[in-house]
Amino acid sequence: MARLIDAVVAIHNAFRNDIDAIDAAAFEAAKGKGDLSAVIARYSFFNEILVWHADGEEDAVFPAIEKVAPLVAEAYEADHRGLDRLFESLTSAISSSDALVTARVTAAFKFHLAHHLDKEDTHLYRIMREQIEMPEQGQIVGKMAAGVPMDRFPELVGWMFPLMGHDDRENMTRIWKMVMPEPAFEGAKGLIEKAIGDDWAELTKRIPELVG
Ligand SMILES: [Fe+2]
Repeated sequence: MARLIDAVVAIHNAFRNDIDAIDAAAFEAAKGKGDLSAVIARYSFFNEILVWHADGEEDAVFPAIEKVAPLVAEAYEADHRGLDRLFESLTSAISSSDALVTARVTAAFKFHLAHHLDKEDTHLYRIMREQIEMPEQGQIVGKMAAGVPMDRFPELVGWMFPLMGHDDRENMTRIWKMVMPEPAFEGAKGLIEKAIGDDWAELTKRIPELVG
């Protein structure tokens, strides 16, 4: 049974996989084994979603955490500002077509982001799981999701689902089935199928009612 909080973990895993791919491409370019096109193709949308994550947490999660664990959230907010600075550095390195500096920035970005997400999963969201009642958790996750502009939803699905493993895809799909009105979920289903191609068979094996 998927819990709402699993949606957050699934998106965190997509972030981890994306920054790994961005950093690997930048490293290859710095070694002279490629150009920066793969980095350029990914980093803007990656950061846009990262900012939705930060804004959603700052609007919905941190105020709720503050009530049950005062002074904890401000350290995570400081992490977010560090991510903002890394994006500025990455944009500057890419616009000067400097593969070596780009790879140094993506390595720092990867370390900082992974460390931040690991802390959120094991500490911040543990506080949420243990100290905040389920109905409020639902409101928090709903408020975060509402921060994503609806017209960008297809892009979000196209970014996120290929970057997630089978378990996260299953959890996310089950959660959406639970919380979305039927017509919206039908639309989401089509976007998921398009995003994961042949892997749709595995997802329908896990959730047979998708094709029932
Ligand atoms: Fe965060």
